[in-house]
Amino acid sequence: MYLENMEKTHIYILGIESSCDDTSAAVIRDGVLLSNVTASQAVHEAYGGVVPELASRAHQQNIVPVVDLALKKAGIAKEDLSAIAFTRGPGLMGSLLVGVSFAKGMARALDIPMIDVNHLQGHVLAHFIKEHDGDTGQPEFPFLCLLVSGGNSQIIKVKAYNDMEVLGQTIDDAAGEAIDKCSKVMGLGYPGGPIIDRLARQGNPKAYSFSKPHIDGYDYSFSGLKTSFLYSLRDWLKEDPDFIEHHKEDLAASLEATIVDILMKKLRQAAKDTGIRQVAVAGGVSANNGLRNAFHEHAQKYGWKIFIPPFGYTTDNAAMIAITGYFKYLDRDFCTIDLPAYSRVTLK
Ligand code: KG4
Repeated sequence: MYLENMEKTHIYILGIESSCDDTSAAVIRDGVLLSNVTASQAVHEAYGGVVPELASRAHQQNIVPVVDLALKKAGIAKEDLSAIAFTRGPGLMGSLLVGVSFAKGMARALDIPMIDVNHLQGHVLAHFIKEHDGDTGQPEFPFLCLLVSGGNSQIIKVKAYNDMEVLGQTIDDAAGEAIDKCSKVMGLGYPGGPIIDRLARQGNPKAYSFSKPHIDGYDYSFSGLKTSFLYSLRDWLKEDPDFIEHHKEDLAASLEATIVDILMKKLRQAAKDTGIRQVAVAGGVSANNGLRNAFHEHAQKYGWKIFIPPFGYTTDNAAMIAITGYFKYLDRDFCTIDLPAYSRVTLK
């Protein structure tokens, strides 16, 4: 059916990402990124969090211009595409449906394969995006990947592009979710991650201590920390109603340091137990400067070879969907038009 496309000299993959509040499209040629266009949705700022219905409406408005611009920036026509990859899940159902339906319709119209991508696998494989032909900074298998975002905190053993084992994950809140909630309690804006990161640079990470979880294995937990932060703040506010304003830098630095400590302790243990010294970080929270510094310190101290994504690939983006689609294309791992989106899923 797709024989004609398979014989093209170059493989062009269009990736489409719409799992939450970013509408993104990217084009990759033979594994090298040609374009990556993202429209973010400012509409949620006023609500302190993503409003699903508003997100799906904004995706509907953004998807055509974003895809159009991605093709233009890549300098190709839609007829040049070999396949279209799209985020199938996990994410917000109303948001996913926009990207999934658009991708399927476009692939069907062009009579080219459609490829479903697990968003979490995409975050991990973002480390394989080549920005130019001679780009050789990719990890070798197996490597460990700390995947930290607003919805996930996982330690993954990556054995191959299509073979990943979750060694540990959060049993309650994700790291990003904890940061966002604590930031909300402090009355800071949304999303809290970048604000906490900025304030933390000017504060003392040892000023306050908050509770850390004691759970077995490589699993994480962040709900206790959130409660401890909330209760401590409540007590301090009784003594000084302007406590947050007076100490927000120290609070941010101490919160960030606690989260980074929790994340790195389990990751260190996993690296020790598996003997794997190549360690990557991925997901929205990997933009955090405290976490990035901790990775550099661990590289020095434990001889890790570390992989930290450029800032543009930390949050949701279609480049990571396109590169995952590229590897699936090489495996001829296509999907059919009746494949539904899914809101919840783990890595296989
Ligand atoms: O991966 P992502 O863009 O979305 C998903 O959850 O899928 O991650 C978003 C999370 C949010 O919780 C946000 O606050 C956090 O990443 N984040 C950060 C930083 N930038 C984004 N957290 C800490 N420091 C940052 N610089």
